[in-house]
Amino acid sequence: MPLIFDVYGTLLDVDAAASKTAEKHPSFAEHWADVSAAWRHRQLSYSWLRSLMGRYTSFWQITMDALDVTLDEMGINEPQLRQHLLDLYYQLPAYDEVAAQLSAMSAKGHALGVLSNGSPDMLAGGLTSAGIYDQLDHVLSVDSLNCYKPDPRVYEMVLKAFDCTAEQVTFFSSNNWDIAGAGSFGFRTIWVNRGGKTWDDLPEPPTHIVSSLAEAVRLID
Ligand code: LAC
Repeated sequence: MPLIFDVYGTLLDVDAAASKTAEKHPSFAEHWADVSAAWRHRQLSYSWLRSLMGRYTSFWQITMDALDVTLDEMGINEPQLRQHLLDLYYQLPAYDEVAAQLSAMSAKGHALGVLSNGSPDMLAGGLTSAGIYDQLDHVLSVDSLNCYKPDPRVYEMVLKAFDCTAEQVTFFSSNNWDIAGAGSFGFRTIWVNRGGKTWDDLPEPPTHIVSSLAEAVRLID
């Protein structure tokens, strides 16, 4: 049975670009957490709005646009710092547990894949530098569809790639709106709620809630 993972915030640590930049740019130390949160929020908003407007552009472009507006809003005008943030975002580390837990799931006989808003180049860059690219049977990007999650066409990509039905898929995401989208499509869902967030009032609550992939492995036969 296919086990499908969201990437940003689920396998790769999206806060790492800003937190690591603060190590090199001490003046950024007091801002990095706010920048990271606003950057992510804006990145996702832009993806939803562009999808609705039919004005697709790549997730990498959206990631740059969201960063530029966030830095501008916060009065940070340092080209080197901006470049450093983007360089690190292109090669985000995985959360510490990820490689081992993907191995554990694969050892149970499951096919593994990712389904992400990320553009193919940034997915290849991130998953390779995180050392987990080779553990995946398929790396699926929305880029061939020109729309973003939670459009049902995105989740449908899994069925063709893995030659399966929606009921056979277990989908993991740290993003509650992504869980709602995947659940609405008919996937069994596991919300990897690392930060202990509150579930939003969205359709199709998760089948399971875990705080780590290690906890999720126990739910997989
Ligand atoms: C992704 C974002 C939504 O990887 O986290 O699709």
